[in-house]
Amino acid sequence: MAEADRLHLSIIYDNTSIMESLQADWGFSCFIRGLEKSILFDTGAKGLILNSNMEKLAIRPGDIDCVVLSHYHKDHTGGLSTILHHNPKIKVWLPEFFPVDFKENITSAGASILEVNDQRKICEGAFTTGVIEGWIKEQSLVLDTTVGLVVVTGCAHPRLINIFSKVKDMFGKDIHMVLGGFHLAGFQKNEIQEVIEKSRELGVKKIGPCHCTGELAHKMFAAAYKADFITVGAGTEIVVR
Ligand SMILES: [Fe+2]
Ligand SMILES: [Fe+2]
Repeated sequence: MAEADRLHLSIIYDNTSIMESLQADWGFSCFIRGLEKSILFDTGAKGLILNSNMEKLAIRPGDIDCVVLSHYHKDHTGGLSTILHHNPKIKVWLPEFFPVDFKENITSAGASILEVNDQRKICEGAFTTGVIEGWIKEQSLVLDTTVGLVVVTGCAHPRLINIFSKVKDMFGKDIHMVLGGFHLAGFQKNEIQEVIEKSRELGVKKIGPCHCTGELAHKMFAAAYKADFITVGAGTEIVVR
């Protein structure tokens, strides 16, 4: 298969960095290319850092067709205005409950909005779970690839297990890989163990926790998944088909 036909996930923004040239900062952003549309999932906290990391990874704002925002937290939405400044042709997929002034800033930059409530197809092979209820509502991204489902989470505030259940309901098949913030900081060992067991039950083969996952959960996932644990930080590049 030609390199251009492969699906690439590049972590642009994270609390940690695996490349010396990239700046680490609290937040998350992942760029997906190789589908019908290229997708920037979340935009990190600061436009300057997002922009600089993108440059170093040779990703241009003009390469982005859609931005999908997981939830209304600054560490996921803060870089959006910088991206739209450079490329106003982007379509922004956001949960419909986002504040009106946030949406107005997008349209006044010349970009278009798609308001998400229920699960939807973004393009061939890419889907949003729709807004999942929780103490903070959030959407996750699902890629239906030749090796299986790849799920990208922002902070997983509605709980990872609920996100997995939603994905299972949508597709009726196992999850191959999960990446993103798992929001398990402050959780007890037994609670994290339960999440790990459930991940196994749902067939999650590879796991790459980052961002707000928390140190203990990060360590426990690494110990449980061994060779199938993916170290994720700014600069991580994953090719899934
Ligand atoms: Fe976050
Ligand atoms: Fe968050």
